[in-house]
Amino acid sequence: MNWLKIIILSFIYVEVCANPLQQELQDHWQSPIPTQGKPSIHLSDLETSLDPKSCATCHATQFQDWSKSLHSHAMGAGVIGQLVDMPAIATKQHQACIRCHAPLQEQAVSLVTSLLENSTNKQDNLHEQGLICAACHMRKYQWYGPPHRNGQLPESEITKFPHNGWKSSLIFQSAEFCSACHQFKPDEYSLNGKLLENTYEEWKASRYPKEGITCQTCHMPDRRHLWRGIHDPDMVKQGIEIKNSDFAKSTNTITAKLSIKNTGTGHYFPTYVTPRIIIEGYQEDKDGQVLSSTKQQYVISRKVTMNLSKELADTRLAPDEQMIFNYNAKHHPEAVSFVLNVQVEPDAFYTRFYQITLKSAKKGKKLLQKALEESQQSTFSIYFQRQIL
Ligand code: HEC
Ligand code: HEC
Ligand code: HEC
Ligand code: HEC
Ligand code: HEC
Repeated sequence: MNWLKIIILSFIYVEVCANPLQQELQDHWQSPIPTQGKPSIHLSDLETSLDPKSCATCHATQFQDWSKSLHSHAMGAGVIGQLVDMPAIATKQHQACIRCHAPLQEQAVSLVTSLLENSTNKQDNLHEQGLICAACHMRKYQWYGPPHRNGQLPESEITKFPHNGWKSSLIFQSAEFCSACHQFKPDEYSLNGKLLENTYEEWKASRYPKEGITCQTCHMPDRRHLWRGIHDPDMVKQGIEIKNSDFAKSTNTITAKLSIKNTGTGHYFPTYVTPRIIIEGYQEDKDGQVLSSTKQQYVISRKVTMNLSKELADTRLAPDEQMIFNYNAKHHPEAVSFVLNVQVEPDAFYTRFYQITLKSAKKGKKLLQKALEESQQSTFSIYFQRQIL
């Protein structure tokens, strides 16, 4: 063996040993995730089922939380509406989407079958159940989970019951576990020098890793399978601080200030190109009608063109960053009240996207129409204040 070889080998050794989780994560998140294979004869039908409802027999709490989370809705009308217009056997093309939305190989097969049979939207189809328990917890009919809360290893290693015991792994407690789907790789699509999906790197550059705060700390408090995000008003409010100050009126003008600080969001607020937060101030007449000439707006978002070829603006707030909206307009003679409002549109990009995609959709038309309506209904307000003038 020559010196160069020794140096290279020890380099690899150091790399792997310095980060033992890295290899485990890579094995865990292969794309596509290999089939479970043949189950041991010691496992019952209930244990070998990949259907989350089977896990629910014994893990009711996780199932209830998961059912309400977006992970269980990861194969909604907007995703399937696009998949049905792909060729049924174009598995590579399917993979480009389902590797995050329904990543098990068994789900890939279920998708092809349903496309061939034209039987979409059956609740029982495994792929339609989205990001299921088994996708995170099962490999080759072996169950994996975080160590017990007290750090102890699984007892069922000894008893082997149920589901042949389980292996504890530290990957479940790491932010890298989530980055498999919430972070693009360095060579994947970027715009203006920033990856299109960059949540993990945003988190890594913040103060949170140093404070021991991971994705799970905020999104799975007490290990609950909630994954609340931009679609949940309470979660959004928890992540920012809104302050309103310096309201002043004269006969000629009205001025006010509203600040938003990213105080508790572990990445950019918001992290993706899809949501939009609109801060607006306006005056109203005696009937409560908006006097449109008095309306002023500021938008927080990473705005991109529909074909994702260009970034138009990036006004998102990095962790601990603050923005200030200054309202300054003529005092309208008919104005009787003044309003400050902060509106969240979690699916702003998709609304525009579906409107365009619908024009060329074929089989997916009905589903995309449904997705369009859903994307418009997800809007909510997190701050509203009316001042009588
Ligand atoms: C027949 C009941 C039963 C079924 C069905 C079942 N489990 Fe379990 N599971 C258990 C028991 C009991 C344990 C052991 C808990 C312990 O060691 O304290 C366990 C342990 C686990 C753990 C490890 C928990 C930890 O603390 O990290 C995970 C993860 C898990 N199961 C996931 C699943 C998934 C996913 C499914 C469905 C695909 C499933 N289980 C189906 C009963 C069941
Ligand atoms: C997106 C991946 C993902 C999915 C989907 C998922 N889990 Fe988990 N699960 C995790 C992670 C991560 C943890 C550990 C969280 C932590 O340590 O803070 C965990 C922890 C657990 C535990 C241990 C809980 C405890 O209190 O110690 C069980 C049991 C479990 N999951 C079962 C399930 C079941 C059942 C489902 C489906 C209904 C499911 N999981 C879906 C990622 C997932
Ligand atoms: C296998 C891929 C995958 C993994 C692993 C994964 N996610 Fe997700 N996650 C998704 C997909 C896909 C969606 C979007 C679902 C939809 O709306 O269609 C999502 C949605 C979410 C949302 C809701 C976003 C919103 O718009 O409100 C949160 C929060 C989230 N994930 C956090 C996590 C955390 C924390 C982890 C790690 C414990 C994790 N995810 C692991 C694929 C994944
Ligand atoms: C790297 C993981 C990843 C891949 C690959 C991916 N997505 Fe997603 N997708 C996400 C995450 C995370 C979200 C939630 C955040 C958001 O709203 O942007 C999401 C949200 C969506 C939504 C809006 C929510 C919903 O369920 O209606 C649609 C539609 C969608 N993806 C379609 C697709 C399609 C079609 C493809 C393939 C061309 C694809 N995705 C590939 C991770 C991924
Ligand atoms: C300090 C708490 C905190 C940490 C740490 C954190 N998040 Fe979040 N996350 C939030 C809050 C609050 C929101 C809601 C506001 C928002 O959407 O920006 C959110 C929203 C999201 C969303 C919704 C999509 C969007 O455009 O904002 C996703 C997906 C997500 N987080 C994933 C992750 C992942 C993956 C990690 C780890 C790499 C992580 N989060 C770390 C608090 C946190």
